[in-house]
Amino acid sequence: MEFSIKSGSPEKHRSACVVVGVFEARKLTLAAELIDKAANHYLSDVIRRGDMEGKAGSTLILHDVPSTLCERVLLVGLGKEKEFRDKEYCSAIRNAVNALNATGAADGTLFLTECAVKKRTLAWRIRQAAIIAEESLYRFEQFKSKKDEVRRPLRKLTLAIERRNDLALAEEALAQGLAIASGVALARDLGNLPGNVCTPGYLAETARQMAHDHALDCQVLERTDMEALGMHSLLSVAKGSHQPPKLIVLHYKGAIAGTGRGKGSQEKPLILVGKGITFDSGGISLKPGLEMDEMKFDMCGAASVLGALKAVARMKLPINLTVLVPTSENMPGGAASKPGDIVTSMSGQTIEILNTDAEGRLILCDTLTYAERFDPETVIDVATLTGACVIALGHVATGLFANDEGLARELLHAGDEAQDRAWQMPLWEDYQDLLKSNFADMANIGGRAAGSVSAACFLSRFTKKFAWAHLDIAGTAWKSGAEKGATGRPVALLTHYLLKRAGKLN
Ligand code: BES
Ligand code: MN
Ligand code: ZN
Repeated sequence: MEFSIKSGSPEKHRSACVVVGVFEARKLTLAAELIDKAANHYLSDVIRRGDMEGKAGSTLILHDVPSTLCERVLLVGLGKEKEFRDKEYCSAIRNAVNALNATGAADGTLFLTECAVKKRTLAWRIRQAAIIAEESLYRFEQFKSKKDEVRRPLRKLTLAIERRNDLALAEEALAQGLAIASGVALARDLGNLPGNVCTPGYLAETARQMAHDHALDCQVLERTDMEALGMHSLLSVAKGSHQPPKLIVLHYKGAIAGTGRGKGSQEKPLILVGKGITFDSGGISLKPGLEMDEMKFDMCGAASVLGALKAVARMKLPINLTVLVPTSENMPGGAASKPGDIVTSMSGQTIEILNTDAEGRLILCDTLTYAERFDPETVIDVATLTGACVIALGHVATGLFANDEGLARELLHAGDEAQDRAWQMPLWEDYQDLLKSNFADMANIGGRAAGSVSAACFLSRFTKKFAWAHLDIAGTAWKSGAEKGATGRPVALLTHYLLKRAGKLN
C-alpha cells in the first residue's frame, strides 16, 4: 500500500473515497461538517433518517455526494464523543480500512486522523493509522494455490491533517508507522510459516538476509561453537531433532560514538533475546495431540525481536541494538534429553531436566549468559514460555517480569501507548524455592502453581549482571480458532520502547 499525508478541505479533495467520522447523537466531526455544508446538508439528512447513528463499528457508503470532488463518502461511526479515546480511535481506523477495502475504490483519504484523541499526539494518530491499516490488509496466502478471490483495488491511502505546518512531523510519524508495520508483518510471516519450512536454518538465513539488506553485523553460532562455549543447556534441547540448532547474533549500530545521541550512554547496546523453538513437540515429555500444530508458533519471540530490529534499522534510530536468537526444534528421539537428565549451563549452574517440555528456559538461559559479553545497557527476552501465562492473563496482556523497576515501568508504558499491553507479574524471592532439585543446582520446572512465575525465576538466575525484563507472550503471540495466525505482538511494544529510548517519539 502506498501512503501519503495531505492537508486541506474534505469537500475539495479529489479521491475515490473520503472517510469521515460521525459521533453518536448525530454529532458530525469537523471534516463531516465541512462536507455537509458544501453538500447542502446531504449528510445530516441521511443521518436524520436513521441510516447512520454514529454507533462504534458502523459504516455507511454514500455515492456522488453533491458539491464534492470525491466519488464516495464513507461515514464511520465513532461512538459517544465523551468516550472517544485511543482504543476507540484505533477501532475506527480498522473499521474504516476494512470498509474501504470492500468498496471498488482504488484510493482513499482518511480524515479520521484529524480527530483529537485524549493524551495522544498527532504523531501518535498518524503512526497508529499506518500500523493498523497495514495490519488489516495483511494476508498470508503463500501456500494457497488460489489466492483470496476478493477483488482488492485499494492501492493508496492518504492521511489527512488539519494544519500544513504539521506536514513534516506527520511525514516522520508516517515513516515510523510504516517501519513498525513492516516489522509486524515480518514477525507474522515468520510465525505463520509451517515448521517444515521455518527451521532453525531458515531463521538463520532470514537473519543473514536482513543483515545484507540493512548493513548489520551477523554471526551464526553452530553446534560446535556452542559446545566450545559450554552451552550444554541450549544444546540439550536440540538432541532429539534432525535439524541443527543455531544461535543467531545480529548487531545494529546506530549510535554515534561519543555523541551520546538518544538517551544516556547509548554506546552500550540494548539487547533483545527471542525464543526460537521452531516446533515444540514437548520432546520425551510429549505434548497431547490436540492443537499441537500451534507449537509451530513457539518461535514467535524470535520473530518479534527480528521484526523490531527490522523496524529500528528502517528508521535508522540512533541506538545500538543487539538481537540474539537461540533456535532449535524440541523433538523426541533416541538421542533426546530424558526426564532426570542433568546438564551444566554456560554459567556453570547445573540443571535437572524434570520435564523436557520446559525447553524454552533451557535455550534462553545460555543465551542470557552469552549476552554478558556485550556489556548490555538492558536485556529484554521475549518468549512463548508458559501455558500458565495464558491461564493468568488470557490473550489480552503479555506477562512482564523484571529485575529492574525502571525498565518494567518503561515497558508497561510503551505497551500502553502502542496498544500492545503488558501486565507486570511478581518476581519475588519467595518463589525461587519452587525450583529446588535434589540432584542439581535447580530443576527446570516448578510445579503447576505459579507456572509463569517459576519460569521467570529460572531465567532470573542467569541475569544477575544486568537490568533485565522478560516478556511471556504465550497468550498474545498468536490467535487460535477461525482466525488462527500470528499477531506480530509485541513488535509494537518493543519498537515504541526503542523509539522512546532514541528520543524520536513525538
Ligand atoms: N511453548 C510452551 C508454552 C506454551 C504452551 C505456549 C501452550 C502457548 C501455549 C513451553 O515450551 C511449554 O511447553 N511450557 C510448559 C512448561 C511446563 C512443562 C512447566 C507448559 O506451559 O506447559
Ligand atoms: Mn515446551
Ligand atoms: Zn516451548
